Amino acid sequence: MTFDNLITEKKDGIFTITINRPDKLNALNKNTIYEIGKAIKEAENDADTRVVILTGAGSKAFVAGADISEFSSFSEAEGAGLAKHGHDVFKSIENSSKPVIAAINGFALGGGCELAMSCHIRVASETAKFGQPEVKLGLIPGYGGTQRLPILIGRSKALELLMTADMIGAAEALALGLVNYVTTPDEMMIKCREIAGKIAQQAPLAISGIIRCVNKLYDKEDVNFETEIEEFGKCFVTQDFTEGTTAFLEKRKANFKGV
Ligand code: COA
Repeated sequence: MTFDNLITEKKDGIFTITINRPDKLNALNKNTIYEIGKAIKEAENDADTRVVILTGAGSKAFVAGADISEFSSFSEAEGAGLAKHGHDVFKSIENSSKPVIAAINGFALGGGCELAMSCHIRVASETAKFGQPEVKLGLIPGYGGTQRLPILIGRSKALELLMTADMIGAAEALALGLVNYVTTPDEMMIKCREIAGKIAQQAPLAISGIIRCVNKLYDKEDVNFETEIEEFGKCFVTQDFTEGTTAFLEKRKANFKGV
């Protein structure tokens, strides 16, 4: 299968997906999210594939978030629809029967951090930076960040990162348990392939059973993606959202009023 915004490669049982919009820091527009879903499905259906590696093109970004230029004029329903579509694709990653390893080569912000968190294992380059900066746009995270971040790093630190929009480096992400390993930029893919190689030697049905069981642990009513989708949609009719997205596109600081 060929894609507009992804490069895919199959080798030695590893299916590598590279998000390829480096001049936009691999920001997730609608088509890119759709294509990630297609590529994950392709990997699931490919009998030779044992493990998937997901990374970003270029040295600067894994993914710098959802594409702000695409959604700045959305209505509440369109905003909620955008979140729902992202949730469906990210859940398909989390529930994939084949393990997905995120190779985080740079900025993993907003939807990029959320994308990495929907993967099963995370390996970060020491140049990676993580954050949920949506509040700077008058928004909340819309692809699972309000749920998966507290699950991974705990409620208190998650709330701090979600509300301050602070970015953290790879070493802090490792200390918080947000990533499994930090490597030099050159060693990042080597480490991913080493982990993938170990998993690829195991029984595939047992691997998919482990994923199902571990996911079940978090498949509780209080993991509430629906509330996130609803609250994300509500932000789109606020003046603060218009101000936040306009300020980003005009490369200036936003002035929020609480309306
Ligand atoms: N959506 C759309 N475009 C984006 C983007 C996003 N999330 N993130 C970066 N870009 C674009 C920029 O607009 C710029 O495009 P241009 O060259 O046509 O002006 C290009 O990618 C390079 O980004 P730039 O901001 O110039 O790089 P930088 O090194 O100065 O800053 C970041 C890097 C990641 C700090 C900054 O791009 C940023 O804050 N991005 C948005 C992060 C965010 O809020 N994500 C959550 C979205 S919901």
